[in-house]
Amino acid sequence: MDTAGGLPREAGARLLQDGLKSRNRSRALTAAVILGLETSCDETAAAVLRRDASGQVTVLSSVVASQIADHAPYGGVVPEIAARAHVEVIDAVAARALQDAGLGYGDLTGVAATAGPGLVGGVMVGLAFGKAVALARGLPLVAVNHLEGHALSARLAGDIAYPFLLLLVSGGHCQLIEVGGVGRHRRLGTTIDDAAGEAFDKIAKTLGLPYPGGPALEALAEDGDAARYELPRALLGRAGCDFSFSGLKTAAARLAEGVTAAADRRDLAAAVQAAIARQLADRTDRAMALYARDHEGRDLRFVVAGGVAANRAVRSALEAVATARGFSFAAPPLAYCTDNAAMIALAGAERLAAGLSDTLDAAARPRWPLDEVAALERPTHATGRKGAKA
Ligand code: KG4
Ligand code: ZN
Repeated sequence: MDTAGGLPREAGARLLQDGLKSRNRSRALTAAVILGLETSCDETAAAVLRRDASGQVTVLSSVVASQIADHAPYGGVVPEIAARAHVEVIDAVAARALQDAGLGYGDLTGVAATAGPGLVGGVMVGLAFGKAVALARGLPLVAVNHLEGHALSARLAGDIAYPFLLLLVSGGHCQLIEVGGVGRHRRLGTTIDDAAGEAFDKIAKTLGLPYPGGPALEALAEDGDAARYELPRALLGRAGCDFSFSGLKTAAARLAEGVTAAADRRDLAAAVQAAIARQLADRTDRAMALYARDHEGRDLRFVVAGGVAANRAVRSALEAVATARGFSFAAPPLAYCTDNAAMIALAGAERLAAGLSDTLDAAARPRWPLDEVAALERPTHATGRKGAKA
């Protein structure tokens, strides 16, 4: 300011102090405090996460308002109901996340909101809310790919260095991806029809289990005999790392029609769970062989993430394959397997640390593959409730 030179000593000292304060503040920016927002499916979630300058991460709060009760009567997610439910609670959920963290909007250094892929009506709610906070508080905005959130979710519990092989296995996605760093993804395999979580959900429905079917089927399978029923072994031994669950779904649905006794239902549930776990392990084993060849002499890391990673049979089948192939094994804590905003805040924090942010006109994207090149070159024709399974 050109008048600064003529200021009395005191005012000059205050200016100097203010300058120091703002310099501290900008240094503190490398230690980010991020509000994460997640609204891509049937959970309205907000979280506050701190990432210090060394990259260490602390989840200060994580609030998930589930809409399960709203959708249960329909046996699946109804997009219009989901979008309205997000609108109704997003501000309260975000306020609660700040309150749980003991912070206010003024303490944030950035906002991260899921911008896709997902049900676009819901995605728009969280993204618009994030933009409003960013605009009102002058904060940087990160429009996060929901899948990148899942990809990083295991890092919420401990540091996992790049690169790693990821199995992302959720209600809408089933993919094997080499994660090289923020925004660096190479797809090794994807589903050619249904996602594994979708198979869990649909088969559970034929067994008369409540939505969401995955956890209900796991509970039913607990004391079942997985060897009682023969189910198709799709793609077993076939080249490549792609998945297919539609044959299993059809066969299980046909068997479920004739099954009423409690013991038979338990056995069928156990057989279905084992068949899904077996296919996930078989395709992951192939991806590990490819990955190990490409990363010879380096540490081999494997991460499983997404809602289906909460399943214990799936986890242990994958852990066994990882051990046999010389990979370390990591999975997020159960609360961060299914959709949450802490993983979105983390993806936002990592992007901001890498100097990446988005403008306020960032679009909501119903489809948004992590490896856009692979999705273009080798598209799958199937579409699921969360968009293309690419
Ligand atoms: O990651 P997520 O919350 O949402 C998506 O991004 O899709 O995953 C939800 C999916 C649902 O299909 C649900 O049935 C499945 O994850 N899931 C499970 C278990 N917990 C959630 N599947 C099998 N066993 C579980 N314990
Ligand atoms: Zn998800």
